[in-house]
Amino acid sequence: MKVLILETTADAEARAAGIIAETVKAKPSAVLGLATGGTMLPLYAALRRMHTDEGLSFAQVTTFNLDEYVGLAPSHPASYHHYMRDVLFDHIDIDLANTHLPRGDAADPIAEADAYEALIASAGGIDLQLLGIGRNGHIGFNEPTSSLSSRTRIKTLTESTHAANRPYFAEGEALPKYALTMGIGSILAARHCVLLATGAAKADVVAAMIEGPLAAVCPASALQLHPCATIVLDRAAASTL
Ligand code: GLP
Repeated sequence: MKVLILETTADAEARAAGIIAETVKAKPSAVLGLATGGTMLPLYAALRRMHTDEGLSFAQVTTFNLDEYVGLAPSHPASYHHYMRDVLFDHIDIDLANTHLPRGDAADPIAEADAYEALIASAGGIDLQLLGIGRNGHIGFNEPTSSLSSRTRIKTLTESTHAANRPYFAEGEALPKYALTMGIGSILAARHCVLLATGAAKADVVAAMIEGPLAAVCPASALQLHPCATIVLDRAAASTL
């Protein structure tokens, strides 16, 4: 694990965005694994700016997102399909046909999970997998106790994940019980993993990921096994290391 501790939150976001930009410049047809969540919003804003101001092109890039809520159609405002179009895809020159997320509204979510895994393999695997971290240590929606070799499948969301994601749903709306998520094994298969964590609320779980034992109770600790993992932190997220 390479751990980069940046002075400010903005520096950390810019560094993670810069790593993605370098990957795309070095390989215009790169396959990117993408993540959602509040942490990524400034990073995607930085990529939009690099596209507009510096001509960074995504025309040949293929993307695979980590996860999607089971039961949500792409048009649902809290779906990750909607998030990705809203914060990135609709603002850059990417071919939407080359952007992939698991379909939360698939008639057969188990078949959807298997097909998604096969699609990643047929694209040649993921060059760079962007990751956030949940307050309970999840990556993607691999909740604590997920198998470290798991592949794309359905996971039951925990109460703490529901609480963290409640603000993205309308008042009174029931949150999805399940998500389709790339597995920990799928994530570890990426050639480079880049995890961005910012803010003091992530400090304890960041320490567990980096310094704690490799354990299924902290799914992000599986990154200790990855030969090329870069962890990008601000001072606050690194404060208990
Ligand atoms: C969600 C996503 C994760 C993300 C996590 C952290 O649950 N499925 O991929 O890393 O939230 O989100 P935030 O950045 O909002 O803390």
